[in-house]
Amino acid sequence: MSKKIISLVLLVSLQFASVAFAQIKPNSYAVSSAHELATEAGLSIMAQGGNAYDAAVAVSAALAVVEPASSGIGGGGFWLLQSHDDSISVMIDGREVAPGAAYRDMYLDEEGNVDRDLAVNGGLAAGIPGAPAGWVYIAENYGTLPLSVLLAPAIDLAANGFPADEKYVTLLAMREEVMNRWPETAAIFMPEGSVPEVGDLIVQTDLANTLRAIVENGRDGFYKGEVAELLVEGTRAVGGIWTMEDLANYTVKERTPITTTYKGYELITAPPPSSGGIAIAQMLNLIEAYDIDEMTSVERTHLLSEAMRRAYRDRALYLGDTDFVDVPIDLLLSKDYAAGMRTNLRLDRATPSSMLADDPDIWPEGNNTTHFSLIDAEGNMVSATLTVNLAYGAAYVPPGTGVLLNNEMDDFSAKPGAPNAFGLVGFEANEIEPYKRMLSSMSPTIVRSPERVAVIGTPGGSRIITMVFLGLLDFIDGHGPDSWVSLPRFHHQYLPDQISIEPDSMSAEDVAALEALGHKVQEGRRAWGNMHGVMWDMEANQMEAAHDPRWSSGGAEVVPVKR
Ligand code: DON
Repeated sequence: MSKKIISLVLLVSLQFASVAFAQIKPNSYAVSSAHELATEAGLSIMAQGGNAYDAAVAVSAALAVVEPASSGIGGGGFWLLQSHDDSISVMIDGREVAPGAAYRDMYLDEEGNVDRDLAVNGGLAAGIPGAPAGWVYIAENYGTLPLSVLLAPAIDLAANGFPADEKYVTLLAMREEVMNRWPETAAIFMPEGSVPEVGDLIVQTDLANTLRAIVENGRDGFYKGEVAELLVEGTRAVGGIWTMEDLANYTVKERTPITTTYKGYELITAPPPSSGGIAIAQMLNLIEAYDIDEMTSVERTHLLSEAMRRAYRDRALYLGDTDFVDVPIDLLLSKDYAAGMRTNLRLDRATPSSMLADDPDIWPEGNNTTHFSLIDAEGNMVSATLTVNLAYGAAYVPPGTGVLLNNEMDDFSAKPGAPNAFGLVGFEANEIEPYKRMLSSMSPTIVRSPERVAVIGTPGGSRIITMVFLGLLDFIDGHGPDSWVSLPRFHHQYLPDQISIEPDSMSAEDVAALEALGHKVQEGRRAWGNMHGVMWDMEANQMEAAHDPRWSSGGAEVVPVKR
């Protein structure tokens, strides 16, 4: 047979295979989340016949109760929904927005410096929450079960309590001092007056009531009426600027995911107001011209770091809320643009970040989010990353609501070129404007070939994007979720101009070799991220789920179904 005929036969059989796999159904369903009680909530919904989207609402609401450090009813997030037959492929954007009275320089002091305390603690730090609107939107538009069923596990955990775990305690110790500024807030999370011991029961009565108000009145239970009044009053009492109109006007957006291809795999990921999908696609486009499988670990780390550096530069310069600013998405995602980025990339030395700053008009002079992944028994998928920003958000609960406020306003660029809590810089595209969404790094992602699909994501601030990037490359290399979630991590974000690595994650020889190429290598004091992944191998019809070993509280489970 000629080569041409062989490739034709191969192509046709691949297409048959892909059609065949598109028609098979999983023999199980699976959830991987940052808390085993939230994972159980999702599994129980699917056991009652709910679909992946129903389960996502239940997991999100349960996480809001049992993992308050990371996400919650006072925060926001992105839910990437993908049906097995592709009739649904959408990102539900429940990101917070700036209040109507917000303005560009609202965090600058008299000297023009960013007041970091105002930017991250108390009422002024909080954007208008999007999470509860997101839950209701998903339930009403994509789910099959009522909110009374979907929120039942969360209400039960809030009303009757859950045991504090290692993560709850560790992260609370970091925020204890700030939280103690507001005794009523401290009393919820530290009922005995100090950071609880692992195993102590945390009961959130007001939160249970707010959740019940949502069951009764849908989104109006939160965004209008009594709860809204308490939120506005409580936020304004501590320097906030929220109004009833801000809450009533909050809207969830449906966004078309960013897609690209890499080595025969299709990537479906988060569009703006996340920067993650564009950055990941840019990095894949850049590296696809190289044979990374043939590279040494140093060569590979160097190349990937150079790709990271370039993608984060573009993030800083161009990315923001597309409802407010023009983002050159098509250009940034084009393979030609990636080819352009490669022209100043050298395999034998690092490119100083300062050499890439080439836009004089806009260039200046000078953990705790959560991710869950799930697949239902029909093969429908949800990849969701949710957040209140820093640990325990703004560390403040408006009295009577149980709603721990986010401090997402710090994801805006408070001043051109001034680093935020994650060291990220930004300019006009991400400056503060009323009702604008602050730029995010959250990157809920799905990667698939005709034979295998991965649902992947993680918290980790600015490092989310690079973790998802490394994780999906590992999946494409043929590994399962146990491997992606436990990979040692490295990261470059353009500024500061350094490769960050997890403690003890790289040999001294590799560090020395990277330094010889011109990189600064900075070993962190702690590991980062909390990745949760699910994989469905359609060829073998086998499901796998894994949670990050860096925290003990995660829950990953696969439940077989009988057909
Ligand atoms: O949306 C973002 O990019 C950030 N607010 C995420 C914060 C985060 O992941 C903190 N986690 N460690």
